[in-house]
Amino acid sequence: MLPHLEVLFAEDEIKRAVARIAAEIRQDYQGKQPLLLGILKGSFVFMADLIRQLDLPVEIEFVKLSSYGSGKETSGRVKVVNGLRTSIRGRDVIVVEDIVDTGLTVAFLFDYLRKRKPASLKLCALMDKLSRRQVPVSVDYLGFTVPDKFIVGYGIDWDEGFRYLPEICVLEED
Ligand code: IMP
Repeated sequence: MLPHLEVLFAEDEIKRAVARIAAEIRQDYQGKQPLLLGILKGSFVFMADLIRQLDLPVEIEFVKLSSYGSGKETSGRVKVVNGLRTSIRGRDVIVVEDIVDTGLTVAFLFDYLRKRKPASLKLCALMDKLSRRQVPVSVDYLGFTVPDKFIVGYGIDWDEGFRYLPEICVLEED
């Protein structure tokens, strides 16, 4: 079985989506200094493009979570691999995620973060696989709703491969 790639979103479509999300965030956080908290590794390219469009004095942090192993399905057990190193008490936190799928990762992270008493907590996701949701999670700032397909590129991997692709692609096996 040979995997092949279908482009789902080309570079210009991604650029427009990032600019739209940045405009929404800029409007909501005027006069504030939000902390953007990326979930590694998949969000790093999106995060890098987003902060350069924001025109706000943001700070960034990352946490590393794991649930996938090397397969294409979530194991359902989320673990903190690298947690927060700074206090978020009283901060306006925006979690930056690549794809919300079952919602388990974000639901787990939001519980972990709420215990640390941020002033506000919002979710920004480049993609949402809404049809796969297992726990209620709503996305405050969203790029694209995507079908139930396996996605790679623009920082997102399959078994650590394909992150370097500038487009967002569907990985098909035939
Ligand atoms: P959830 O916990 O099921 O919502 O899964 C979210 C995590 O799974 C995200 O952090 C993604 O990195 C990863 N993920 C979900 N769908 C895909 C995909 O299509 N390709 C690559 N990673 C994915």
